[in-house]
Amino acid sequence: MTLRNVTLNLAVGIAAGIVLIATQPVRAADERGSVQGVVNDASGKPVTGAMVKLKNAERRLTFMVPSRDGGKFEAKDLPVGQYTVQGVGGNFQSNVSAPVSVTANQSAKADVALTTARGPQLPPAWPQRIPEALADKASKDFNALPAGDNKVLVAEKCTPCHDVQRILVKRSDEDNWNHIVARMRARMAAANQPVVSDEDTKKIVAYLSSNFKPVQPYDPNSRLPTELLKGKALNYRAVTYDLADRYAEAARCCDGSAGQCLGGRACRPRRPASIPAPSSSSSSRPRPDRRRRIARASAIRRSTPAASCGCRMARTIAG
Ligand code: HEC
Repeated sequence: MTLRNVTLNLAVGIAAGIVLIATQPVRAADERGSVQGVVNDASGKPVTGAMVKLKNAERRLTFMVPSRDGGKFEAKDLPVGQYTVQGVGGNFQSNVSAPVSVTANQSAKADVALTTARGPQLPPAWPQRIPEALADKASKDFNALPAGDNKVLVAEKCTPCHDVQRILVKRSDEDNWNHIVARMRARMAAANQPVVSDEDTKKIVAYLSSNFKPVQPYDPNSRLPTELLKGKALNYRAVTYDLADRYAEAARCCDGSAGQCLGGRACRPRRPASIPAPSSSSSSRPRPDRRRRIARASAIRRSTPAASCGCRMARTIAG
């Protein structure tokens, strides 16, 4: 590359940078607004360290900021739109407000009062599963499936690839069980296993959805701390994103900063070319050795850039 070219490239680079710098604040200011207000308790006393959730349903975004001195909070840089506001602090929370309009460069007002007792805290659990502490102990023996007309059918059709622990730990509604069984049928077809008839599929879904119903209605605040935030935590700002795909599962798999797939239950890295596909004889073997599977999965994870992860990312509605 000649010196002239280098200079030209530099000049273009610098020009592009300046365009970015020049336009960024203008665009941001155009499209963003804020909400501010005060969090009070039921007696009207200000609460510091409560969390204020601002939800934009249309964009499926929820911003969370703490209340600070005097119970005051300010959520800045919100994309314009309609937001519902809810305060959650200690053992109390407010009702969800009527939508508040956030417009460009304006600050909307929304005070909240923590008047309602919060529901019980839920133990750590993946969405639609029993708590992790119990899940690990769930049986792998098909005899542990609850008695019922179709127990034998489920034991026969659903154990060639994995044990029944996957089923025993799962708690879903009928729609979701339908989706899971449809997914499993696709896997069976791919593994050249005998196809489960539509009639048997209905029986299997009926058995699963009556024996493994959702544990409880999910309260999205039931895993937020009951302690009021203090110190540095008062600077937090959290954003959560509801996935459009209602069947997507929680995963902690793609970390853009490290550029790697981190793994996690629902992380499905696509196989990079360097790692050979299992041969058809090993994929149809009923119970591949667990250690080998784990070693292979971590090898894939280590060598898979996040961009090529086939992840199904976290959904915030869980239960
Ligand atoms: C051909 C192999 C195969 C068969 C047969 C099979 N599964 Fe699976 N199953 C898998 C694989 C692979 C996974 C993990 C990947 C996934 O979730 O799709 C899995 C995961 C699961 C999970 C956990 C996923 C989740 O959403 O929580 C459940 C529950 C499950 N299977 C139920 C069943 C049921 C019920 C049957 C019988 C109708 C069945 N499986 C038959 C291969 C199979």
